Amino acid sequence: MPEIDVTWLLPGGGGGGMGPDGPVRLLGALPGDRVRYTERSRQGRTVIGDVDEIVEPSPDRRAPPCPLTARCGGCDLDALRPEAQLRAKAALIQHALRLDSPPVVHPSPRPSGYRARIKLGISGRSAGYYAARSHELVPVPHCGIARSELNAALPPLTRWLTETGADGLAEVELRSDGERVVYVFSSSGDVPRAVRDAMSALGDVALDGRRIAGDPSLELRLPELTLRASPKAFYQVNLELNAALVRFVVERIERIEPTRILDLYAGIGNFALPLAHQTGVPVLAVESEGQAIEDLKHSAARAGLSEKVAAFSLPVERLDPSREAFDAVVLDPPRAGAPGVVDKLLRNRPRRLIYIACYAPSAARDLRPALQAGYVVSEVVGFDLFPDTHHVETVVVLDRGKRGPTPRKRSRERRRRGPRT
Ligand SMILES: C[S@@+](CC[C@H](N)C(=O)[O-])C[C@H]1O[C@@H](n2cnc3c(N)ncnc32)[C@H](O)[C@@H]1O
Repeated sequence: MPEIDVTWLLPGGGGGGMGPDGPVRLLGALPGDRVRYTERSRQGRTVIGDVDEIVEPSPDRRAPPCPLTARCGGCDLDALRPEAQLRAKAALIQHALRLDSPPVVHPSPRPSGYRARIKLGISGRSAGYYAARSHELVPVPHCGIARSELNAALPPLTRWLTETGADGLAEVELRSDGERVVYVFSSSGDVPRAVRDAMSALGDVALDGRRIAGDPSLELRLPELTLRASPKAFYQVNLELNAALVRFVVERIERIEPTRILDLYAGIGNFALPLAHQTGVPVLAVESEGQAIEDLKHSAARAGLSEKVAAFSLPVERLDPSREAFDAVVLDPPRAGAPGVVDKLLRNRPRRLIYIACYAPSAARDLRPALQAGYVVSEVVGFDLFPDTHHVETVVVLDRGKRGPTPRKRSRERRRRGPRT
C-alpha cells in the first residue's frame, strides 16, 4: 500500500500530495499527515484514493472540538489547529491562483459559533445535518459553528417536529441576523393545512420563500447601513467577518475614484449599497433572485440611496455590459463561478475588477481572459468566513494593464485608418 506526505488542502475538501505516479487526492487526510492509502480511481494523472491509515498525524492536529464531527460531514477541518487552517487555506489560494507567495487570510473574529444560517434536512419527525456524501441525517442537538441564537432555536424545532410531524417538508433553514431567528421551511410535496397552521407556534416562519407567520425577513446591520434579507435571499453567513470583507472591497474600489460601478451577483446589496453610500457614484446591481432585488431596493430607499442605485433582477448571463461603461466592477458569483461573464465585461475595459470567490479554482478559470487581455492581479486576500471547514473566501483585485488600447482609442485609431474593407 503506497504512503505519502499530505502537503496541501484541496479546494473541494480533503488533502493532496505527490505519490509515486503523480498527484494524489485523499478525503479525510489533512495537511501535515503521513498516510497509507488505496487507489480508488484516476482523473488523468491524478490518483483519487481512500486513506487506510494515518501513519503519522500532522503535528497541527488537535482533538476535534465537536462530538458530531465523525458523523456529520460539515466540519472537515476541525481536527486542525486554527493557525494551521489559515496556513492551509492561504496555500490553497496560492496554488489555485498560481501566486508567488501565499496571500494574507484574515481570520474570523469568531473561530466557532459564527454561522448565521444553518440548513437541516427533515425526515419523519426529526431534522439533522446530512452525513458526508450521504442522505443519512445526523441529529444535531448543538452545532459548534452555529451562532448561539441558532442553537437556542434547535430545541423548539425538535419539539415542534415531534409534536406536529413534518408531512411534505424537506428542509428547514434557521436564519439569524445576530439576534432574531426565523425558520424557513422548504417543501417536497403537499404540506397539510394542519402542519402549516401549526407553524405559527415557532414564531417567524416562511414556507418555500413565502411568509406563514410573524416576520420571516431579517435586518442585517453593516456599520452604516441596514440590509433587509427576505427568506429566499442569500446573505453572508459570517456577519462579523463580512463587515471586514465589505470594508475591504469598498476601500479598494474607492481608491480608483470610479464614476460608475457595476455589482454582479449582488444579493441584497451587501456591496452595492455600501459602495453607493461611500463613493456617492451610481451603482448598477444585478442579481437573479427577485426577493433579494426587492430587499436591495427597500434598503436603498430606507438609506436615501434610491437615486444612486439601480437594481435589476436578471441572470448575469443576460446582461450586456458593453452597452454601458463601468470603470469598476465587483463580481461575487456562487461556487460554480461566472463562466463567460468576464469576457463580456472586458469589452468595456473597466479599470478595476474585484472578483470574490468562495471556490478559488472558479476565480482562476474565470479570470484567465482578463489576464490574457493584459489585466494584472494587484492584490489577493483571503477571508476565513468558514472556520473548521475547507471553505475560504478569496478576493482578487485586477487592474487594467498598459497593454491593449481602450475602446475609445481603438475607435479613434479605426477612424484614422478608415473603415475595414
Ligand atoms: C455568493 S452570493 C453573493 C451575494 C452578495 N454579493 C453578498 O455578498 O451577499 C451569489 C449571489 O448570486 C446570485 N446568483 C446566482 N446565479 C446568478 C446568475 N446567474 N445571475 C445573477 N445572480 C445569480 C445568488 O442568488 C446569490 O445572491
